[in-house]
Amino acid sequence: MADDLITGLAEVGVVPLVTLNSVEEAVPLARALEAGGVPVAEVTFRSPHAIEGMKRIRDMVPGVTLIAGTVHTPEQAVAAVDAGCTGLVTPAFDEDVVDWALEHDIAILPGTAVPSDVEKAYDRGLRYAKFFPAEAYGGVKTLKALSGPFAEMGFLPTGGVSLDNAADYMSLANVFAVGGSFPVPSQAQKQGDWNAVSEACRKARALLEP
Ligand code: 3PG
Repeated sequence: MADDLITGLAEVGVVPLVTLNSVEEAVPLARALEAGGVPVAEVTFRSPHAIEGMKRIRDMVPGVTLIAGTVHTPEQAVAAVDAGCTGLVTPAFDEDVVDWALEHDIAILPGTAVPSDVEKAYDRGLRYAKFFPAEAYGGVKTLKALSGPFAEMGFLPTGGVSLDNAADYMSLANVFAVGGSFPVPSQAQKQGDWNAVSEACRKARALLEP
């Protein structure tokens, strides 16, 4: 199950971070991602609208792969899965959330920033992790260094990833997809300019074409 999710994310190559300003925008925003060729939404718990937004996307935009972002607690993990999420992403290596996900066979991308975090993921049998905050923690250079001791690990770099550097990250063998807020420009989201969101997604996809 977890592997299926990673394969799906790798096919798309981009994982947009979605922090909802309102419940109402969940469906049009998800449809805009899908229209732009990026049928994935990492809906974050940074917004009080996360759960209701997830449910609406699950019910109204079923073609979008729904994952929960900024998961800090097992309680949030339970609520996210209940709301239709098929995967969880944490900002840091949170043992409680990771262990809950493994026990319940839910895909988990734990946040890792340094080798000791990656080791914890590796020791639990995980072979995929988020790398955050990517740019601040050495970006492409750090990922190249991690590929030595952690040759089997694949990463989702986020944090400072943009249309300017996404292709550099994607050129690395140990990066399966890039993530971040860049496919959902905040101004476009505020204005409800869903065409602009689709356009940002199209640009991201075009960059990642081999
Ligand atoms: C995350 O949680 O993945 C980051 O906050 C995304 O960072 P970005 O806004 O720089 O893409």
